[in-house]
Amino acid sequence: MFKKMLSFILASIAVVSVGVLSACTDTASNVYTYVIDASYTEYVVMGTSADYPPYEWPLEVDGKTTIVGLDIEIAKYIAAALGKNLKVVNKGFDFLIEDLEAGKVDFVMAGMTPTEERALKVDFSPVYYESIQVVLVRDVDVATYTSAAALNIATVKVGAQLGAIQQELAEATFPIAQRQYIQQIPDLVVRLIDGQLDAVIMEKAVADGYVANHEELGIATFPIGDPEGGSAVAVQKGDADLLAAVNAVIATLIANGTISTIVADAIALNESTAE
Ligand code: ARG
Repeated sequence: MFKKMLSFILASIAVVSVGVLSACTDTASNVYTYVIDASYTEYVVMGTSADYPPYEWPLEVDGKTTIVGLDIEIAKYIAAALGKNLKVVNKGFDFLIEDLEAGKVDFVMAGMTPTEERALKVDFSPVYYESIQVVLVRDVDVATYTSAAALNIATVKVGAQLGAIQQELAEATFPIAQRQYIQQIPDLVVRLIDGQLDAVIMEKAVADGYVANHEELGIATFPIGDPEGGSAVAVQKGDADLLAAVNAVIATLIANGTISTIVADAIALNESTAE
């Protein structure tokens, strides 16, 4: 009985501390609507985690907050191909697979890496945008942290996004370092800048954006993670019709070069609108 109570208390403490870590995040979903064509009567619903520029992030456009980014632009093509308008549900990254499995959203685009583990739960399109992982550090530390070993020491604090592949990468690469997993990427970056963290693992395009917008940040020069990684669209397991439509859109956008333009535009938008 006592043991049971204790494990219950410990479990509650664990939950509370996770809650505190993500305290500045509202996990209630925010829904954004994109009218592709006023004659369309239905919506296709996409789940995302808008904390990952240039993939997706919130931006005030004409006095109203909306979600922008390369994933949103690609999703508009998917919606158009389906003859539907687009609804985007913004949640913590760690909720996205569950929401898709539960049918709360029709597909997920969130700079999501198609891992074997996730592929047991959802189906993935081919990769639409390739990217590698990097370690974001303070610029003054680039010369110190020249290898994974240099960071894998007990005094170093490494951060990664909760539920992302970077969390596993941190476990595998920096087992001796202190590790912190937080729901929102901007919170990780703030902690890195003010010294509560020493390194944060993320996709290169995202790190590049932060480095462009914050001169006190830099990218460690050593490689980390799978050099062949990238992002794919996830649909519910067995949703073959939607997957076929998604795959056709992606194949076209890659073949005609539209994806490259979309990526370049999203990167430019992120760099020109940073606070
Ligand atoms: N590519 C990584 C993953 O799939 C991180 C993606 C994070 N995406 C985001 N929108 N925050 O686990």
